[in-house]
Amino acid sequence: MNDNRDCSEQKPATVEQVSHPAKPNLTQAFYDRISHVYDLIADGGEHEARERGLRQLAVQPGESVLEIGYGTGHSLVQLAQAVGPSGQVTGVDLSSGMHDVASKRVSEANLQSRVRLLVGEVPPLPFSDDQFDVVTMSFTLELFPLNVIPEVLHECRRVLRPGGRLGIVSMAKVPDDETESLLEKTYVWMHQHFPHIVDCQPIPLEQLLTEAGFTLSVHERISLFTMPVAVVVARWGSIAGCRLVYRWSGQSAGSSW
Ligand SMILES: C[S@@+](CC[C@H](N)C(=O)[O-])C[C@H]1O[C@@H](n2cnc3c(N)ncnc32)[C@H](O)[C@@H]1O
Repeated sequence: MNDNRDCSEQKPATVEQVSHPAKPNLTQAFYDRISHVYDLIADGGEHEARERGLRQLAVQPGESVLEIGYGTGHSLVQLAQAVGPSGQVTGVDLSSGMHDVASKRVSEANLQSRVRLLVGEVPPLPFSDDQFDVVTMSFTLELFPLNVIPEVLHECRRVLRPGGRLGIVSMAKVPDDETESLLEKTYVWMHQHFPHIVDCQPIPLEQLLTEAGFTLSVHERISLFTMPVAVVVARWGSIAGCRLVYRWSGQSAGSSW
């Protein structure tokens, strides 16, 4: 149980800073500022990867889903449609500006009864253990410093039910045997020198997930303007149980989940 965060629901008055209480949160200020133009800046390139991730995650009616970093809420709407009236979607995002845009989108789709939106800084996650069937993030994990990502993944693991799925879409590192495109090199250089302008970095997603104790069930690469994007679905726990399901169902080992 880890309910030590005061994330405000639906109408956030304030955003409590837990991880870095002494510093103004530049990330929050940045996303608040761009929330009304975010779709114009980013969505054209990112939506294909995000939707690929949702298709691979294959959310089912009745499931309980958490999205971290819901942004302007495109995925919230698709997730709420997928879980149906018996399911529930919860979102947590640092930015109250993003909350307002996402909340409007969900209301316009008339899906607000299935969607609960929180504003707060992750990690930690303000939820009890074993609460969700699915946790998902798109273009968000790579915003965290590399040394914080294990803590974020640990929190994802904690709130997932045994056998739960974690779906992540993120900028990915170019494999060692491939050459980075000029754009990729420029992007990484910009992140190193001007992190307030380019706030994310390509990450070794599969390695980070494996080190955090997840088992990969889908891992794909797609290209975003010559830069690799990882689309991954990973499972937490019940791996032995899942293998048993294979045998019960008579499928050969190695089938997808
Ligand atoms: C690059 S945007 C991606 C938004 C959305 N997932 C999409 O694919 O369009 C990253 C989102 O993560 C949120 N975010 C960044 N750092 C966060 C943190 N530490 N805790 C919670 N949300 C965070 C930002 O406010 C922003 O809405």
